[in-house]
Amino acid sequence: MAGYVVVGMQWGDEGKGKVVDYLTEQVDVVVRHQGGNNAGHTVVVNGNTTILHLLPSGILHSGRQCIIGNGTVLDPAVLLKEIDGVLAAGHELEGWLFISDCAHIIMPYHKLLDKVQEQFRGEGKIGTTGRGIGPAYADKADRLGIRFGDLLNLSMFREKLAKVLEYKNAVLKSLGENPYDVSEVYAEYEGYAERLRPYVGNGVTLVHNALKDGKRIMFEGAQGAMLDIDHGTFPYVTSSTTVAGGVCAGAGVGPSVVRGVAGIVKAYCTRVGTGPFPTEETGEVGERLRQEGHEYGATTGRPRRCGWLDMVQLRRAALLNGATSIVLTKADVLSAFDTIRIAVAYELDGRRTDEFPSQTCQVEQVTPIYEDYPGWREDITGCKTWEELPEKAQKYFRRIEELAGVPISLVSVGPGREQTIKLTEPFAG
Ligand code: GDP
Ligand code: IMO
Ligand code: MG
Repeated sequence: MAGYVVVGMQWGDEGKGKVVDYLTEQVDVVVRHQGGNNAGHTVVVNGNTTILHLLPSGILHSGRQCIIGNGTVLDPAVLLKEIDGVLAAGHELEGWLFISDCAHIIMPYHKLLDKVQEQFRGEGKIGTTGRGIGPAYADKADRLGIRFGDLLNLSMFREKLAKVLEYKNAVLKSLGENPYDVSEVYAEYEGYAERLRPYVGNGVTLVHNALKDGKRIMFEGAQGAMLDIDHGTFPYVTSSTTVAGGVCAGAGVGPSVVRGVAGIVKAYCTRVGTGPFPTEETGEVGERLRQEGHEYGATTGRPRRCGWLDMVQLRRAALLNGATSIVLTKADVLSAFDTIRIAVAYELDGRRTDEFPSQTCQVEQVTPIYEDYPGWREDITGCKTWEELPEKAQKYFRRIEELAGVPISLVSVGPGREQTIKLTEPFAG
């Protein structure tokens, strides 16, 4: 039994898509186990860019099973568009792509409520992606959610939809919004059901059959540790368990299946949306990071907030995920800087601390304490081995390992699949 986890260690957009695509070579099955189309995972193969929101990032490899697990929330229209794009690019999906019948469906009222709730929050808005993720997970917890299994049984779907809409329409009317018509929503989703039917199956059985056959499975996390519903900077988080533990509930496996956890770490930090970001650089440095790193959202196109690497945050993420190695991405972006900073501790209430506060109001108050490193000022995007990297870059990477207490397995020096330097096997064992 061999399961390996790829997970974001910061605020999302660490380069998970690129790394999952690169590592798919080594596995037989790739599983998305949480999140929805709030995610945007970029894969660049032979210069062609594909942004995946719902399909596992192993989908561009042939001969790999890709499973969307029960822990996800799926917008069928987005899923179909993505499926059509991948089919048009010449990939085979039937018999390779599977959607768990227990995955929840994003309905039109989820998207509307996402927007209405953000308006209601006013100044304190989260800056959600507006894709209906929070309201869909809330309905799951409220036992009002509709799952893919329901959608395939159309008479049951209509019955559930009518019942849920009775309640949702009452809520929407009280908020001054227009109610939904059962027949209209039904007609739209009936169409999705017909097209998606060939892909829907029992996700847990599929995963366990693969494990029984001795196959290697990679679990692809979405978002990042600091956006986790429990461990992130609440309430400025997403609505699912983004840390490695989410794999178990989101795919239906026990923790003993997991052999290794590759924590994806961007060589600096970014964040989209509201919420504390201790090392954020709002001036020239932040703008430079944004331009050099092309830091604009893969889902919403929003400019990402940028800042220096934060080891206090990263050490917390390493613990939360049980990271067995770090994959360091976008190291090449730092070539543009004369001086590179790493936050090694925080100052809070006049005292130095190594601990990431659990209270968001305290995260808002910390002042980072930095170590400065001389930049290498050399293009490293063509480096293929550790030895080819400039000595100053090597030193900087070794310092990250030391501060994190976790070894680096891969260094990514560009968006392309081939722009990856292997130090050690990320999925040993
Ligand atoms: P994800 O959500 O974690 O999959 O990350 P995104 O795809 O949202 O954002 C990462 C961005 O950085 C994408 O545009 C990638 O193509 C790009 N990228 C990934 N790794 C590297 C790298 O090592 N260097 C550079 N320059 N770009 C990278
Ligand atoms: P990937 O998988 C970066 C952020 C949103 C917002 C908060 C809540 O590409 O790394 P939501 O729509 O989930 O309710 O929004 O979470 N967010 C992400 N930020 N990368 C992501 O995914 C994100 N998914 C959600 O910007 O602040
Ligand atoms: Mg992304």
